[in-house]
Amino acid sequence: MALPRYAAVTGWGHYAPEKVLTNKDLEGMVDTSDEWIRTRTGICERRVAAAHETTASMCSIAARCALESANLASLDLDLVICASTTPDTLMPATGSLIQDAIGAANAGAFDVNAACTGFVAALVMGSQFIQSGAYDRVLVVGGETLSRFVNWKDRNTCILFGDGAGAVVLEAADEECGLLSFVLGSQGSGGPLLDIKAGGAAKPASPETIAANEHYITMRGNEIFKFAVRSMVHASGEALAKANLHAEDIRMVIPHQANVRILRATQQALGIPWERVFVNVDRYGNTSAASVGIALSECAEMGTMQPGDNVLFVAFGGGLTWASAVLRWADISSIIARRGEGPYAI
Ligand code: ACO
Repeated sequence: MALPRYAAVTGWGHYAPEKVLTNKDLEGMVDTSDEWIRTRTGICERRVAAAHETTASMCSIAARCALESANLASLDLDLVICASTTPDTLMPATGSLIQDAIGAANAGAFDVNAACTGFVAALVMGSQFIQSGAYDRVLVVGGETLSRFVNWKDRNTCILFGDGAGAVVLEAADEECGLLSFVLGSQGSGGPLLDIKAGGAAKPASPETIAANEHYITMRGNEIFKFAVRSMVHASGEALAKANLHAEDIRMVIPHQANVRILRATQQALGIPWERVFVNVDRYGNTSAASVGIALSECAEMGTMQPGDNVLFVAFGGGLTWASAVLRWADISSIIARRGEGPYAI
């Protein structure tokens, strides 16, 4: 009988562009105030990609950092999964651009689009490739250049979003760790609440669509807010139940970073202490599919998780979509030390 296989997180990395756009800067661009943005969203600043930067270039930096922290070479990768809503091009996939940029010549590559839910969906997907025995080392990376799809004259949206990328390496392990449970959900009827209306097959870009600003993000914030809290609470509860765990068994919650009020409401409903919720929305704003990856990377970098700790991921986004997953933190140094031996030897 085949031994069970687990998908351990063994490396992480993130990248945020150098340019910081503060709430004060936004006061000079639209009719808003630092005070309004802070109290309604918890955001203080966000990063904006430089002209030469793209989703693929930022993801490639995050990917290299993740490989370095896992002590792996790009040639060791079997697969690159990129989650993004703002790919460099419709074709080729950004995953292929990253695969090429980092020199992952032995890896397949593709993109996942589930808006802000994308990173958690890709994490679940990558874990399954490993658990099934198909692959041993998978790079999951989420990145966004939302600044290129934001209408900088629309105060309802431009204050919220930021650019960046986050990545993890998933690796086969034989000791219990990695994905314990997950939930993926979609309610496509809510799509028009958060969308980019033109530039796809349904409405190709034209002078008219550009004149009507239909290539920018539009959002009904209030309705998304209510949906966000509902779906985050529900999905978290479901993933915990599937893993046979309770809120008190969770060491850290790493949620999608959209709005600190959404995080507070979710935390209170779940009954998890606020100190166990990782928050960086104040520094990056909402980076959509990059947000959970950046948060995971920063949280892991701080050494917060120890082997055996349970980590809850939860996200919501355009689609509408939602996802949650419970992961058990691996004994990473033991996996790295044993790389030369056994069935997963490089
Ligand atoms: N500055 C000042 N006033 C503003 C601004 C701003 N930047 N934006 C909106 N307002 C005004 C509105 O026009 C409205 O004025 P009115 O009452 O005169 O009409 C007032 O502030 C209140 O607006 P609300 O929409 O009720 O404010 P709310 O408390 O809901 O906060 C917000 C708005 C921050 C957008 C909130 O609804 C939210 O965070 N929603 C979730 C958004 C989200 O997470 N989206 C991303 C989804 S993930 C993905 O897939 C990309």
